Amino acid sequence: MSETRSRIAVIGGTGMNRWPGFTLEHSEAVETPYGAPSAPLLFGHIDGLRACFLARHGDGHKIPPHRINYRANIWALKQAGIEKIIAIAAVGGITQGYGPAQVGVPHDAVDYTYGREQTYSDGSDLWSLHHVEMGEPYSASLRGVLLDAARSADVEITDGGVMGITQGPRLETPAEIRRLKQDGCDLVGMTSFPEAPLARELGLDYACLAVSVNWGAGIGSGGIHDEIEQSVEAGMQKVRAILRVALTTLA
Ligand code: HPA
Repeated sequence: MSETRSRIAVIGGTGMNRWPGFTLEHSEAVETPYGAPSAPLLFGHIDGLRACFLARHGDGHKIPPHRINYRANIWALKQAGIEKIIAIAAVGGITQGYGPAQVGVPHDAVDYTYGREQTYSDGSDLWSLHHVEMGEPYSASLRGVLLDAARSADVEITDGGVMGITQGPRLETPAEIRRLKQDGCDLVGMTSFPEAPLARELGLDYACLAVSVNWGAGIGSGGIHDEIEQSVEAGMQKVRAILRVALTTLA
């Protein structure tokens, strides 16, 4: 295997705090002007394909969505030479196409979060004022790679969807899910923003591979935690199959 470093990073979240099959070559505990990322950057390979892995919620999955240092995470990846980020996000489903264990690639988003450091344009000398365009919040080309990879891997995938991003860590109420649906959201997660706009500010390609692990509150018939337990592994198996093909394409 050549010594060139990977330009592709996978950010793993709930259900993928580790990447089964990923062989670690070295781990880098880095610092950024914004502090330390959630965890060391892990460089290694899977099936001979190089990649970098970052556990969004930290070692042991302890950092809740509203306390993640998103700016440090994205800056650390940029600093490491990463050009493309595939962000895995466990989500709740609101419309058909995002039922439990279904995977999809959202194309748009509504941000309901608050109080998060969501930009590098904070008036400091580190970064000048940028009004980044969010007409296409997720990279169209990287979305295409993920969709094609799913088809090649024979994994059913939902093309598009509007992601609502809520503050967490609590789940939503049924009325909140109804409001998200009225707003046009198809799925709901807690981390895709500010990840996507921060990646855009730094010029990184960013797409989200969303794995529905439950129906949003008030939609399904059972308990949400039971649903999550039943569907998370099936969903993550699909994610791993898609990633293998996507990394081959991007290599
Ligand atoms: N809501 C928000 N985020 C989530 C959910 C949900 O129902 N399930 C997994 N992540």
